[in-house]
Amino acid sequence: MTTDSIEQLFVNGLEELYYTEQQLIDALETLAEQTNDEAASQAFSEHRTETQEHVNRLEQVFEQIGEEPQAKDEQVVDALIDEHEQFAQENDGDVLDRYNIEVGQKTEHYEIAAYGNLTSFAGKLGYDEAADLLEETLREEESALDELSQAGEQFDEQQIASD
Ligand SMILES: [Fe+2]
Ligand SMILES: [Fe+2]
Repeated sequence: MTTDSIEQLFVNGLEELYYTEQQLIDALETLAEQTNDEAASQAFSEHRTETQEHVNRLEQVFEQIGEEPQAKDEQVVDALIDEHEQFAQENDGDVLDRYNIEVGQKTEHYEIAAYGNLTSFAGKLGYDEAADLLEETLREEESALDELSQAGEQFDEQQIASD
């Protein structure tokens, strides 16, 4: 693979994430409002604030590589949001809470894979400052996943105890 095509993969990935993060700002607000479990709801709402910063960081990355920030439709996040909307129409209570935690975790796994690769591409292409910014976001995605995973485990333990 030539460096040119890695540069293309890099820019393409940035544009998809720029779209994804903007969709997630609204999605995380919905999740925070809709989830009764306190730990999960708080994790969603704190991560929403971080996600606004993820959008800002991506804009800085675009600037550093001399590209205009552009959002490119990303079907993965669209599908996750659609599926969630449908599930939320048909379910509520504990089942919806637990589903919300799961869909949140899936989203973080997706972002971790995307940011992990983009951090590596940025390093390879010599965009060191961009790599640092992307890695900063990567760490926040990882800790959001940890918090949601803990909330999910606690939720399941409480369910077992109350059965
Ligand atoms: Fe993010
Ligand atoms: Fe995230």
